[in-house]
Amino acid sequence: MKHCIDIKDFTVDEINELIATAEDIIENPVKYAHTCNGKKMATLFYEPSTRTRLSFEAAMYELGGVVLGFSEAASSSVSKGESVADTVRTVACYADIIVMRHPKEGAPLVASMKAGIPVINAGDGGHNHPTQTLTDLLTIKREKGGFSGLTIGICGDLKFGRTVHSLINAMSRYPDVSFVLISPEELCIPDYVKEETLIPKNIPFIETTSLDDAMPYLDILYMTRVQRERFFNEADYLRLKDTYILTPDKLKNAKPDLSIMHPLPRVNEISVAVDDDPRACYFRQVRYGKFIRMALILRLLEISV
Ligand code: NCD
Repeated sequence: MKHCIDIKDFTVDEINELIATAEDIIENPVKYAHTCNGKKMATLFYEPSTRTRLSFEAAMYELGGVVLGFSEAASSSVSKGESVADTVRTVACYADIIVMRHPKEGAPLVASMKAGIPVINAGDGGHNHPTQTLTDLLTIKREKGGFSGLTIGICGDLKFGRTVHSLINAMSRYPDVSFVLISPEELCIPDYVKEETLIPKNIPFIETTSLDDAMPYLDILYMTRVQRERFFNEADYLRLKDTYILTPDKLKNAKPDLSIMHPLPRVNEISVAVDDDPRACYFRQVRYGKFIRMALILRLLEISV
């Protein structure tokens, strides 16, 4: 049985197929409207979410399926002390596929070993967020036409930002990609990402604290939020949260065809004055999230159209 726990669960060919399906859904939505009739998706969200949960729900409804679940652990038996394993075994009696977000790294992996139905990781702690990465890849494909040869600047909280870890993993599998990793020293990319992905694959990357220095070289600028909920003390968060604020002024040295991305939610790191710049694609990115999740649900439920 296929799950989506880590972006590495999919080969490059499989990712390209998901993107092709998502693009076909964009062109021909009616063809897909009843493909999940009679199917049920459970969304088990132990952490807050707007885009990920609602885009999964919208995706399932647009495929003709239905959705059940909870959006906070406090409203389920989790608050009584039920384990992830017991919760998913229960939910698997009512649903065909599970989407889980959890503050603990590895919880969706445990769920996938117990559920007996496909499980999708919708974000596990500061670890991974494979469906945000699929969203990012579809966005890059639509904005840039492909993946090869791109210089990607990733800026902000590279330590706790789970979307960053999955994105580096995925983009490293395409030819001639290089990274500029822009963060305060305290929030730099974890060693394991360098040691497991960047170094063994000889992917060119530089680490810097300066967004200004990096700007002229970037094809993509992927901004991220400082992940307040993963900090051990509030003072550190307050000190670091506004390290990078993208304003129209800072974009003066950027390439004319730069793509500015952000998984959202944004706090202060992109000024609203940037939103009208045609290079800002973060709201288009949100929209693509639904289509790629439709493709993923079909793939995991083994429904071919
Ligand atoms: C991200 C997440 O939950 O990791 N949000 C999302 O799913 N689009 C990014 C974030 O919370 O900063």
